[in-house]
Amino acid sequence: MKTKIQEKFRSLFGEDGQLYMSSGRINLIGEHTDYNGGYVFPGAINFGIMAEIKPNGTNKVKVFSIDFNEMAEFGLNEEDKPKQAWACYVFGVCRETIKRGGKVEGFNAVFAGDVPLGAGLSSSAALESVFAFAINDLFGNNIEKFELARIGQSTEHNYCGVKCGIMDQFASIFGKKGALMRLNCKTSEYKYFPFHPDGYKLVLIDSCVKHELASSAYNKRRESCERAAAAIRENHPDVEFLSDAKRLWLEEVRDKISQEDFLRAEYVIGEVQRVLDVCDALERDDYETVGELMYQTHFGLSRLYEVSCEELDFLNKLARKCDVTGSRVMGGGFGGCTINLVKDELYDDFIKAVKEKFTAKFGHAPKIYDVVISDGARKLQ
Ligand code: GLA
Repeated sequence: MKTKIQEKFRSLFGEDGQLYMSSGRINLIGEHTDYNGGYVFPGAINFGIMAEIKPNGTNKVKVFSIDFNEMAEFGLNEEDKPKQAWACYVFGVCRETIKRGGKVEGFNAVFAGDVPLGAGLSSSAALESVFAFAINDLFGNNIEKFELARIGQSTEHNYCGVKCGIMDQFASIFGKKGALMRLNCKTSEYKYFPFHPDGYKLVLIDSCVKHELASSAYNKRRESCERAAAAIRENHPDVEFLSDAKRLWLEEVRDKISQEDFLRAEYVIGEVQRVLDVCDALERDDYETVGELMYQTHFGLSRLYEVSCEELDFLNKLARKCDVTGSRVMGGGFGGCTINLVKDELYDDFIKAVKEKFTAKFGHAPKIYDVVISDGARKLQ
C-alpha cells in the first residue's frame, strides 16, 4: 500500500509528501450508546487508511483515491463541496478545521486503504481521522486530539448526512496497540484496558450485506432515543441523555411514548450497564461473562433496537451452536459484521461451519477478518 501511494504521488505531483496513517475500529460492546451519552468500548485495528500529503502553495486541494481510481479537486470555501461522495469526507475535515479557527491551505494528497467498505469497521472514520490528524500536523494547528475526533464527527453530521456519535473517530484517533478503550461519551473521560484474551481469538464475520438507507435508519434510531429522553426529562430534569435514565424512569413514561421508542430506549439503558459489566469481567479475566453479555447485546440490537438482519441473526445463532463464547452484530448494523470471541480450539470448526452453512443459505460466502488491536492516527517515518 505504501509503495503504491508513494509511486502515485510522485507520478501525479513530481515530488514526495509526508505519510500518515489511521485505523478502522472494532467495538467489543456498547453499541448505539455514544450519541446517548453512554459508554463505548472500542479499539483501533490493523486495517486502516494511509495518506501522503503535501501543501501545494495554492488555495486548492487535489486529492487522489487509489481505491476509487479518481481525482477530486476543490477549493476550501463552503460552496466548494466536491461531487464525489468519498471526497466530501476530506472536504468536510478541511471545513471543520477552518470553522475551529485552524489554518488549512491547498494541498496535494494520495490515499488508499484496506478497511473493507460497508462492513461496519468505520472506513469513513479512518479517512476523516487520517486527514484531520495530517492537516493539524502539516499546518501547525495544535488542535487537541479529542477535538480532532470531533472534526471527523462533525464532518459526518454536516457533509455526509449521518448524525453519528463520537465512537468511531475517537477510536481511530486514540487507538493503542493491544488496548481497548472505555469512553464515557458524556464526559469524554476514557481509560485504556489491556486486551490480551489468552486462549481466545477475536474474529469478525462479514455478512457482505449492506442495506440501502442505513444512514436514514440510523438517524431515526437517534431521534427515537431523543424523544424517550425528553419524556423522561419531564419527570427527572437532570436527565440530559438517555444514558442518565434508570429503567424504572423509562417505565414511568411507557404510555407517553410510542412502543417503538420505548423498545429503543429499553435497549440503550441495558447496553450502557453491559459495558460496565464487561469491563468488570475483563478485570477478572472472566471471558465467559464477557461473551454472555455480547449475546445479550445481540438480542437487544436484533429485537429491541432492530438494526440486525436475517444474515446477522443467522451468524449469531450459528455461533451459539458452535459454542462460541460471545457473538453479536457490531457497529451501526443493517448489515456488516458480527464480532466473535472464540476459544482457540473451537476456531477452525467454527470458521468451517460459518463458510459452509452461510454460503449454502444465502448463496454468497461471508468474509473472515482476524483482527489485531492496533495503533490509531499517526505520522509515519
Ligand atoms: C456507527 C456510528 C457510531 C456508533 C455506532 C453504533 O458506527 O458512527 O457513532 O453510534 O454506529 O454503536
